Amino acid sequence: MTEPTEATDVTVTVGPDALRVLVLAGSSRAGSVNARLAALVAGQVERSGATADLARMRDFAMPAYDGDAEADEGPPPAAAALRERLLAAQALVIASPEYNASMPGVLKNAVDWVSRFRPQPFKDKQTLLVSASPSMVGGNRGLWALRVPLEHLGARVYPDMFSLAMAHSAFREDGELVDEGLRERLAATVDSFLALAEADTRYLCLQRRWYEFLGDESSAPITQRAED
Ligand code: FNR
Repeated sequence: MTEPTEATDVTVTVGPDALRVLVLAGSSRAGSVNARLAALVAGQVERSGATADLARMRDFAMPAYDGDAEADEGPPPAAAALRERLLAAQALVIASPEYNASMPGVLKNAVDWVSRFRPQPFKDKQTLLVSASPSMVGGNRGLWALRVPLEHLGARVYPDMFSLAMAHSAFREDGELVDEGLRERLAATVDSFLALAEADTRYLCLQRRWYEFLGDESSAPITQRAED
């Protein structure tokens, strides 16, 4: 069953076959503007008829990547938990702060640990990146940095991104965005992304057969990125 959403008339399947979207806030801080943005995205996901699984980095607290620890014990339980949540979702949204013009180390560390599982969980995952920052560019540089490892891992990172500038004063008390134009733009970005993600679950022609991830055992010869 499909229904048009309010914002853009995009149709997304609702009901038991609804698209499941993991919405991950890249900050665990109380009062995090990225967690607030993630909550808005999750609300829009639900309004469109899809299912949102809202998470934040604190749900996946893990040690810094250590190759010896991996060899001895394998990836830590929190990395396995994040992998499970990723596998259960057809799409991923990350709301990430910008730290020093890049992504937070804790987020990159989680990506590194999760990338060690096979099959590699980010491969082919439809992914939308959003950010919020007190700055005038809304943390957008951090998203360009985050795009690099995700695209390297074969995630299908949506071309459009949403970066909320002056985020400390951008939210109303009820959690909505103050600016109506930005509200509409966020809704339209999320809806367009969901439409593509859902189409990707139904139309095989969207799958990139030429794609090769260097650590993927389905490609020959098998190579490990760390051994290149
Ligand atoms: C920041 N912040 C920041 N902001 C920005 O726009 N560009 C940047 O390069 C940085 N660098 C940076 C480094 C470090 C280590 C910290 C702790 C912070 C500020 C950051 O955007 C601000 O603290 C946000 O509020 C963080 O997001 P959350 O936690 O509110 O979601």
